Amino acid sequence: MERSLVGDLKSLPDGNSVVVKGWAQEIRSLKNLVFVVLRDSTGMVQATFKRDNFPDMDMLSNLSRESVINVEGKLNLKSKSKTGVEIEATGFTVLNVSESPLPLGIIDPVEADFETRLNNRFLDLRKPAKASIFRIKSSLIWGIREYLHRQNFVEVQTPKIVAAATEGGSDLFPVKYFEKEAYLNQSPQLYKEILISSGIDRVFEVGPAFRAEEHNTVRHLNEFTSVDIEMAFSDHNGAMTMLENSVKNGIESVLKASSKDLETLGLKIEIPKVPFPRISYEECRNIASANGVEIPFGEDLSVEALKFIGEKFHDFYFIVDWPSSLRPFYTMPNEKDPRYTNSYDLQYREKEITSGAQRVHNPDILKKRFIEKGLKAENFEFYIKAFKYGMPPHAGWGLGLERLLMILLDLPNIREGTLFPRDRTRIVP
Ligand code: 4AD
Repeated sequence: MERSLVGDLKSLPDGNSVVVKGWAQEIRSLKNLVFVVLRDSTGMVQATFKRDNFPDMDMLSNLSRESVINVEGKLNLKSKSKTGVEIEATGFTVLNVSESPLPLGIIDPVEADFETRLNNRFLDLRKPAKASIFRIKSSLIWGIREYLHRQNFVEVQTPKIVAAATEGGSDLFPVKYFEKEAYLNQSPQLYKEILISSGIDRVFEVGPAFRAEEHNTVRHLNEFTSVDIEMAFSDHNGAMTMLENSVKNGIESVLKASSKDLETLGLKIEIPKVPFPRISYEECRNIASANGVEIPFGEDLSVEALKFIGEKFHDFYFIVDWPSSLRPFYTMPNEKDPRYTNSYDLQYREKEITSGAQRVHNPDILKKRFIEKGLKAENFEFYIKAFKYGMPPHAGWGLGLERLLMILLDLPNIREGTLFPRDRTRIVP
């Protein structure tokens, strides 16, 4: 007989013969009966075993929790058990025995500390509420992908072992690459721009990005998922429209595909209204100043300043027109006032989720920007070459997927939305 998923049992006819497979979450032995709560990826069901029918019942009643079992039986949809559905068992097989005791409780009312949970992540993820986070993440990225495909973007894969720094010279992980020096890529920035000159026109990538940032905060990872786009014959305004619609489509996809997981997490989320408000860096400085926080021109908006700005502009909003000193070499200076750039960040309250810009497409301006930023142009020859033979004007963005998930689900720590986080102290598991 074919396996049924626990989540589908309610839609089957009462009294049907079924087979379910999963983990024995709880085992309770009474005089004449043994109850097993079986959990699979879709839910939990109680299986009831009558001792008289099973000469080998001791094997089941002594089985350790979290062992993997196969249960056959008759479906009882009128059951008063806490799982609402019951299986009156006619047979069982133990597929694999779990060791005991477990290093991490699955159903303990008090959660273990975060380090213990991450050290035993495979068990932590057996808790339905933790698994829900990653099903939602999957729906979120599916919605973003689907939107970009509809807009004729081509999904690409670019190298993660590279010879030059993308986002400036710091925060790099060096890699021994035979006789050469190499690094883990900080962003697909240079490659997605090279692809623009290849005539593909619109590219996107979902892949890992590596940052050797020393600080260990609730918002920073040393390896995160970067969702990147680059589009030809467009500017920062075109890229911002693409971004707000990608985020909206991602959230719509979560609501459509993961409503049960949102329920498991006790969350209600709303589809954001587009367009998102746009406010300039200068307006942000003024808001900060009105609240007693002075930001000198050319300096980044402090966490304190962003708190005041975030209180004024709820939910999603763009900060646009950043000063040149704060943006990487590839960012297009504003044609009227080159102290500023055609760039933006997408924010949610005080948190940054995305940065993007129109890019420089003229190779001579690009070389000047390298010098201004104290970078050696000769390290970027492979990149500059792509600008010499007909590079269209272009723009794009890079979105931190875990940051977006974090704000959507109100996670207290970005690591909650990362299966196996990499941070200053953690490289295992
Ligand atoms: O602002 P960043 O460094 O920009 C770039 O990588 C550009 N190449 C993007 C572009 O196309 N212009 O990173 C983009 C986003 C951030 O807004 C943030 O959401 C996320 O990536 N991010 C991190 N997420 C988690 N941990 C970190 N250490 C992150 N660093 C950046």
